[in-house]
Amino acid sequence: MNAWLTMENLGLTEGGTRIIDDVSLALGAQRTVVLGPNGAGKSTLLRLIHGLLHPSGGTLRWARPVSQAMVFQRPVMLRTTALANVVYGLKLRGLAADECERRARQALAHVGLERLAKRPARLLSGGEQQRVALARVWALEPELLILDEPTASLDPASSREVERIINEIAASGTRILMTTHNLGQARRIAEEIVFIDRGRIAEQTPVAEFFKLPRTAAAQDFLQEEMP
Ligand SMILES: Nc1ncnc2c1ncn2[C@@H]1O[C@H](COP(=O)(O)OP(=O)(O)O)[C@@H](O)[C@H]1O
Ligand SMILES: [Mg+2]
Repeated sequence: MNAWLTMENLGLTEGGTRIIDDVSLALGAQRTVVLGPNGAGKSTLLRLIHGLLHPSGGTLRWARPVSQAMVFQRPVMLRTTALANVVYGLKLRGLAADECERRARQALAHVGLERLAKRPARLLSGGEQQRVALARVWALEPELLILDEPTASLDPASSREVERIINEIAASGTRILMTTHNLGQARRIAEEIVFIDRGRIAEQTPVAEFFKLPRTAAAQDFLQEEMP
């Protein structure tokens, strides 16, 4: 597998604590899910990869530059319509106004929200707002989409809908790197699981093997607690 991102001895220290501790990791799968206990450093690792945090040490090397976007647990909606929220990102890319609107409408249709295009985004339900957030990034056609627990605050039905959209974005050719608290979802989306424990990579394992028999005791304990 050709790595699209290689991290070597990556570290992040905050106030004397090593949050990311000597991480060496090569990512090559199209769909990677990062799992690990609360506070393990999953969000921090994704933020380092997306460039929102600066490592205290080590290197992060891209095989080639990739366009990327990130989606968070709680979507940040501008105080305007759903459509304008999607148009906004496209405008920043310098596209002509009619092209922005055309692409934004298409992206909203992809996430099943055409009929809510003119609604104020902040009045939509949590699940609908997350779908607007996904339309916003999908319209940009990033090569890599990073998602940090995108369904953690959603009800099961909205969660399944968001999962369906993530799978469609993946099918359109975008690489997926995400975390989730939902192990069923991890299983359905991932090709490869990266398991992180106390800031360190415990293992990197193909998904079927991970859920059948993880290699490390830390991951075995985690699965036993999460899926007794
Ligand atoms: N800016 C920060 N300063 C100090 N500690 C932090 C900071 N950000 C995160 N942490 C700590 O680092 C650890 C990892 O956090 P996080 O990456 O959010 O974990 P996860 O997403 O796996 O739950 C936690 O113990 C958290 O409290
Ligand atoms: Mg987190």
